[in-house]
Amino acid sequence: LRVFVPRDSAARSVGADAVAERLVAAGAEVVRTGSRGMLWLEPLVEVETPAGRVGYGPVAPEDVDGLVAAGMLDGQDAGLGGPERPTRRDEMSDSPDGGRVDAASPAIRHGESGVYLGLVEELPWMRRQQRVTFARVGVVDPHSPDDYEANGGLAGLRTALAMSPADVVEEVVTSGLRGRGGAGFPTGIKWRTVLGAEADVKFVCCNADEGDSGTFADRMLIEGDPFTLIEGMTIAAHAVGATEGYVYLRSEYPDAVETLTAAIEAARERGWLGERILGSDLTFDLHVRVGAGAYICGEETSMLESLEGKRGQVRAKPPIPALEGLFGRPTVVNNVLSLASVPAILADGADAYAALGVGRSRGTSVFQLGGNIARGGIVETAFGITLGELIDDLGGGTASGRPARAVQVGGPLGAYLPVEKFDLPMDYEAFAEAGAMLGHGGIVVFDDTVDMAAMARFAFSFCAEESCGKCTPCRVGAVRGVETIDRIRTGQDREKNLVLLEDLCELMTDGSLCAMGGLTPMPVRSAVRHFGEDFTR
Ligand code: NAI
Ligand code: SF4
Repeated sequence: LRVFVPRDSAARSVGADAVAERLVAAGAEVVRTGSRGMLWLEPLVEVETPAGRVGYGPVAPEDVDGLVAAGMLDGQDAGLGGPERPTRRDEMSDSPDGGRVDAASPAIRHGESGVYLGLVEELPWMRRQQRVTFARVGVVDPHSPDDYEANGGLAGLRTALAMSPADVVEEVVTSGLRGRGGAGFPTGIKWRTVLGAEADVKFVCCNADEGDSGTFADRMLIEGDPFTLIEGMTIAAHAVGATEGYVYLRSEYPDAVETLTAAIEAARERGWLGERILGSDLTFDLHVRVGAGAYICGEETSMLESLEGKRGQVRAKPPIPALEGLFGRPTVVNNVLSLASVPAILADGADAYAALGVGRSRGTSVFQLGGNIARGGIVETAFGITLGELIDDLGGGTASGRPARAVQVGGPLGAYLPVEKFDLPMDYEAFAEAGAMLGHGGIVVFDDTVDMAAMARFAFSFCAEESCGKCTPCRVGAVRGVETIDRIRTGQDREKNLVLLEDLCELMTDGSLCAMGGLTPMPVRSAVRHFGEDFTR
């Protein structure tokens, strides 16, 4: 009978290691997994039973002995503290409060100590999701290649190796997969450019410099299912003719560095990396490079400079990295989630992936709920779910219990949206039309105590702090932006300075060399547009 305890750093930060130790001391066979993403329930302990995995959470170390005494390790889905099973809400719409996924009450009964949740896969919060990229996260042991293979791993790579590179590229094009790092450029089209480029050597680089505040999906994927990323990069290498790959991982993610490094080592030992991969003609090896903490190194050309051992500064495009990337060679640069979505596309077919989603936003996206939210964490669903469904139904509204007022989608350079926009579908084009962007899928909620003029000031001060300094609109504009907002907030020539602010935003949008300076006006302008009253108090 196995007991699963996450080793994800979010779970560890609230005591998962101590819980695991107590379980081992109580005689349990503990397997460390990634996190399911229900961060408000961490440490979430799962026990294998004939009916499936039964969850308990949040479990404190001092809860463990009581839970074991009450029968936690007996292998039955009997619950604690009473004979009847917890009520399950099969359809969210049947729930009495109009569809909220309430995984903390009242479907859940408290045991003698700790919280009994019932079958984890049956929790309304899990049932509402369509897990494709995150299918194995929280399920498998990220350190075990055997576990990976036993849970469907390598099926995509085996399929890809039986196909020609061009056919693999077209399969990815057909799936409709778009870059999950933020820009949403079609992944297959990017690969087609690299495949068509003539060169002595080509590279696949994974951008894991997840610098946006309120985003953590890349980290959770690497900590929970690193072999999926390795498999996705190997498929990309076969598709474009690359022999070497790099994962650029941020130094703020030490657990991810450790997990991925161990997984690469294990993959080499298995023949999943190196020469003649899985008996094919493919040769591909992978290396981890750890960044030094600059936000701008998440911009692809800056990341390439950093990988080459130089200061992380943006390069002018063109040439695009697909043609002249790492060391001037054709390079695939993709985000973690783009690459980690590829194995499932090859394994299940492009059409199955493309069948999910809306409009030109195909497949699933991994949304990250954060900020002032009752149930923060990871939600993977097909595109098309609305912002309000994510925040109210899955996220349970604000943590403070006060009314939500604003939500920032797509990181610190994303737009602030008011509650009136909660019916917006999660769709690249719908967001662009609303003057917003999906970005990397981070969703940060604020309640009615937020001062939106202060948030607009933060956008400029963040840009001033993180600007690489290469171009003037960003380097100087961000500083001038802070000063202008300070004058507006203190009532100095307010009307004149609001016009000046819009002028500055236009200049930065049009004149900046990269998205850092070019997108900083987005949160500023959206704050002025939707929350203008905060600028005239
Ligand atoms: P972009 O639109 O310039 O490029 C998108 C990608 O498509 C790049 O990889 C580019 O090289 C590639 N591309 C463009 N034309 C191509 C062609 N003809 N053939 C092949 N490839 C081509 O956007 P950029 O500046 O790379 O990214 C901006 C986005 O980054 C923003 O929308 C923002 O959401 C996101 N972002 C994400 C962060 C994170 O932590 N994940 C942090 C900051 C920004
Ligand atoms: Fe550097 Fe900012 Fe210019 Fe980008 S916009 S190149 S970060 S100065």
